[in-house]
Amino acid sequence: MGKKIGIVAFTLELCITLALCEYYSKTHPVSPKQQVVTNLHFFFHDTLTSPNASAVLIAKPTLTGDDSSSPSPFGSLLATDDPLTLGPDPNSELIGNARGMYVSSGKHVPTLTMYVDFGFTSGKFNGSSITVFSRNPIMDKERELAVVGGRGRFRMATGVALLNTYSVNLTNGDAIVEYNVTVYHY
Ligand SMILES: *[C@@H]1O[C@H](CO)[C@@H](O)[C@H](O)[C@H]1NC(C)=O
Ligand SMILES: *[C@@H]1O[C@H](CO)[C@@H](O)[C@H](O)[C@H]1NC(C)=O
Ligand SMILES: *[C@@H]1O[C@H](CO)[C@@H](O)[C@H](O)[C@H]1NC(C)=O
Ligand SMILES: *[C@@H]1O[C@H](CO)[C@@H](O)[C@H](O)[C@H]1NC(C)=O
Repeated sequence: MGKKIGIVAFTLELCITLALCEYYSKTHPVSPKQQVVTNLHFFFHDTLTSPNASAVLIAKPTLTGDDSSSPSPFGSLLATDDPLTLGPDPNSELIGNARGMYVSSGKHVPTLTMYVDFGFTSGKFNGSSITVFSRNPIMDKERELAVVGGRGRFRMATGVALLNTYSVNLTNGDAIVEYNVTVYHY
C-alpha cells in the first residue's frame, strides 16, 4: 500500500516537474520583452548562368506554352545559394548568402514564390538569419516580401523586405536585386 502511494506520488512529481503526463506545458502569460527594429540593406545576386551559377534548376514541367523559352518558366523550381553583398558590384564585400529555393508560380505574370533563408556571415549579425516566405512579383520594379521568422539575433523576427531590381538580363535570368529590409525582433 505504502509502496503504491509512493509510486503515485513519484509519478505525480515527475508529471509536475518534467511535464511527462501531457505533450503540452501549462500556458502562461509572457512578460513582454522590448521589441527592437533593425534595418538591413544589401544586394542579392541571382546567377543562373554557368560557370558560377548560384541558382540551379531542380525541376521544370514539360512545356509547350508561351513562356517555355523563359529562363524560369511556370512550374520550374530552383535551389539558390546566392551571395549577398554590401554594394551592387558582385565583387563588393560579401555579407551573407540566400539559401533556399524558389518556384516560378505565376501562370500568366512572371512571379516567384520564395522559400529562402537569408544568412549573414559578417558583423553583428554573423550567424543569424531571416526567413522569407513570400510571393515575389519580379516584373514590378518595386515589390515587398514578407519576413516570417529568423534565427540567432533575429529569433522570432517579423518584417518586410522592399525589393528593387538593380539589373536583370531577361534572356538568361541573371539578376541583381537591392534589398531594404525592416526587421522587428527582440
Ligand atoms: C567563378 O568563381 C571563382 C571562385 O570564386 C572565381 O575564381 C572565378 O573568377 C569565377 N568565374 C567567373 C566567370 O565569374
Ligand atoms: C562569423 O562567424 C564564424 C563562426 O563563428 C567565424 O568563423 C567567422 O570568422 C565570423 N566572420 C566574421 C567576418 O566575423
Ligand atoms: C544576357 O544574356 C545573354 C545570354 O546569356 C547574353 O548573350 C547577353 O550578353 C547578356 N546581356 C548582358 C547585357 O549581359
Ligand atoms: C529603406 O526603406 C525605408 C522604409 O521604407 C526607407 O525609409 C529608406 O529610405 C529605404 N532605404 C533605402 C536605401 O532604400
